[in-house]
Amino acid sequence: MEKITKTIKQDIEKLIKDLNYHCYRYYVLDSPVISDEEYDRLYKHLKELEEQYGYILPDSPTQRVGAPPLDKFVKIKHKEPMLSLDNAFSEDEVREFDERIKRLIKSEDKIAYTVEPKYDGLAIELTYINGFLRTASTRGDGYEGEDVTQNIRTIKSVPLRIEGDNIPEEIDIRGEVYIDVKEFEKLNKERGKHGESIFANPRNAAAGSIRQLDSSITAKRNLHLACYGIGAVKGVDFRSQSDLIKWLEKARFPVPSIVKLTKGISEVISVVKEIEKKRKDFSFETDGAVIKVNEFRLQKILGMKTREPRWAIAYKFAAHQGITKINEIIASVGRTGVITPVAFLEPVRIGGVTVSRSTLHNWDEIERKDIRVGDTVVIERAGDVIPHVMAVIKDKRTGKEKRFNPPKKCPVCGSAVEREEGEVAYRCIGLNCPAQAQGRIGHYASRTAMDIEGLGEKNVELLFLKGLIKHFVDIYKLKKEDLLELPRFAEKSAQNLINAIDKSKHTTLARFLYSLGILHAGEYGAKLLARNFKNIEDLYNVKSERIIEIKQMGEKIADSISRFFNDPENLNTLKTLKSLGLKISNPDFESKRAEKRPFDGLTFVITGTLPEPRKKVEDLIESMGGHAASSVSKSTNYLVAGEEPGSKLKNAKELQVKIISYEELMEMVKEKG
Ligand code: IVH
Repeated sequence: MEKITKTIKQDIEKLIKDLNYHCYRYYVLDSPVISDEEYDRLYKHLKELEEQYGYILPDSPTQRVGAPPLDKFVKIKHKEPMLSLDNAFSEDEVREFDERIKRLIKSEDKIAYTVEPKYDGLAIELTYINGFLRTASTRGDGYEGEDVTQNIRTIKSVPLRIEGDNIPEEIDIRGEVYIDVKEFEKLNKERGKHGESIFANPRNAAAGSIRQLDSSITAKRNLHLACYGIGAVKGVDFRSQSDLIKWLEKARFPVPSIVKLTKGISEVISVVKEIEKKRKDFSFETDGAVIKVNEFRLQKILGMKTREPRWAIAYKFAAHQGITKINEIIASVGRTGVITPVAFLEPVRIGGVTVSRSTLHNWDEIERKDIRVGDTVVIERAGDVIPHVMAVIKDKRTGKEKRFNPPKKCPVCGSAVEREEGEVAYRCIGLNCPAQAQGRIGHYASRTAMDIEGLGEKNVELLFLKGLIKHFVDIYKLKKEDLLELPRFAEKSAQNLINAIDKSKHTTLARFLYSLGILHAGEYGAKLLARNFKNIEDLYNVKSERIIEIKQMGEKIADSISRFFNDPENLNTLKTLKSLGLKISNPDFESKRAEKRPFDGLTFVITGTLPEPRKKVEDLIESMGGHAASSVSKSTNYLVAGEEPGSKLKNAKELQVKIISYEELMEMVKEKG
């Protein structure tokens, strides 16, 4: 080891000071002032000097990593017990909390409270002696926790030394170690890939990462800290929670993202609601807001119960998640024939509702998440989203869990089940499958299809259940008298529906083809057919090869169309419809004959904000013969990118689709139009 000089010592100390400052700018303030490369250069320089002279200070950033793995954790006693919090589940309970406090301190005045988000992580106590981090411990049973110092040191936002001029001789700082939701999801994905058990929630992930005997694992986890309180302190007096937070910030500790000082309980409630509203945008998981009496003098008077202080309460938000068991999985046939696996759950209350079933989406999803009957699972129910299985807790497996394979036959009609190449969904191919009938009728009558006013989903369901319409052909056999027998119809409404049905008999070929609900043939596919076939009869017994000749018609849709028009039962249906008075004109076929349009055969996708409303631009594209699609695929010819383009831009780049601006599109319109 070389002999150290005073200047070298000063150099090392300056490097430590600078690096710690940059670490604080980066990890606490999220606003670095030097580049990552510059930081790495300084760090490397420090490391070299430390090795050369053996002069290693406790607050050196090099001391965050590299500790040897432990055999077990040593216990640490908390000088002041680490308490938990009482919960409030309603506004009334928050008001009762305020009333109780006023009673206890015998005051009628409005109380000052702070309101902070409740971080869903692991409570930690950091002990600093003369400004240096000495130990870090978990909460444990509240009186004694585990020494996790070397793990906590790896968290870059934890100061190794307190900065500023008001440094207490000794201070125990408390806060929550947590993991960001995105980071949590990434971690679980990785674990899933490597066959490791996944964490049920961000709290477990944070706890699992801190309770590691090998700190090099903790170092990889990207953990954060939010400091919100103190235990024992010597040498400095804090007046209030808001004072403390200010001091913590100055001393470079990360604090909760929101700490609002309020006066009176009504203000508290409005801040709580504000936090609840913002909750989904937070990078971290929060299940509530913590309300604390601001003044420490009052906190002291109020004291504590056995495990909780009387001066604080946690208002709990409606939960997003719950843990329960899958009792059974069934294959449910939807209205389009798609077969969806649905899990029947041991009922669990999540956010005020009881959840007893959850869609599993498809078999790819079942396989990806390895979901089995009998598994214990995490169910998520966020906002209006239907509940879904987030993950399986594999540690809970007993070995009796059973896999659920896709059915070979439709569980409703017994027809064959098919899965087309490149599709995730299994489908029942039975055209007369009762599970699909109502859906087909609803689609046929809908606004974008035959547009029968008064025959919305509710009425379709009523007429279907009453047996008046079993197939969409029956729509044209409906009589006013049939309708009048139903509770929802009176003279006028019944007549209106009959009139609407009559009116719909005059339709266009494009609309009619779309109404038939031919697999894969959407509105655009129907239009293409109408441009190419003058009459519906021209499509009878059509061959797939003939359809493929049409530009933009792929094999999948061509096969499906050909299958439809070669099925004798379908052809009978079409003939019956004609005999019931359906009149089909085809303006699209004629327009194709009249002019060859400049954008014929070209598909455009729009992303971002354009100077004109999107619908208007799409109409313009269509009026020139082009197709305006909603998502980018291999067959997209141009992506029109406006301001703040979305993920479509990335997709387009990946698929090497030509990207043009709105102005360039307009140039093309002018040139070709
Ligand atoms: S104050 C005596 N503030 O919630 C009060 N706790 O359920 C001590 N927590 O053990 C805690 N965010 O681990 C406080 N802003 C916050 C908090 C918070 C999360 C945790 C803490 C506590 C638990 C109680």
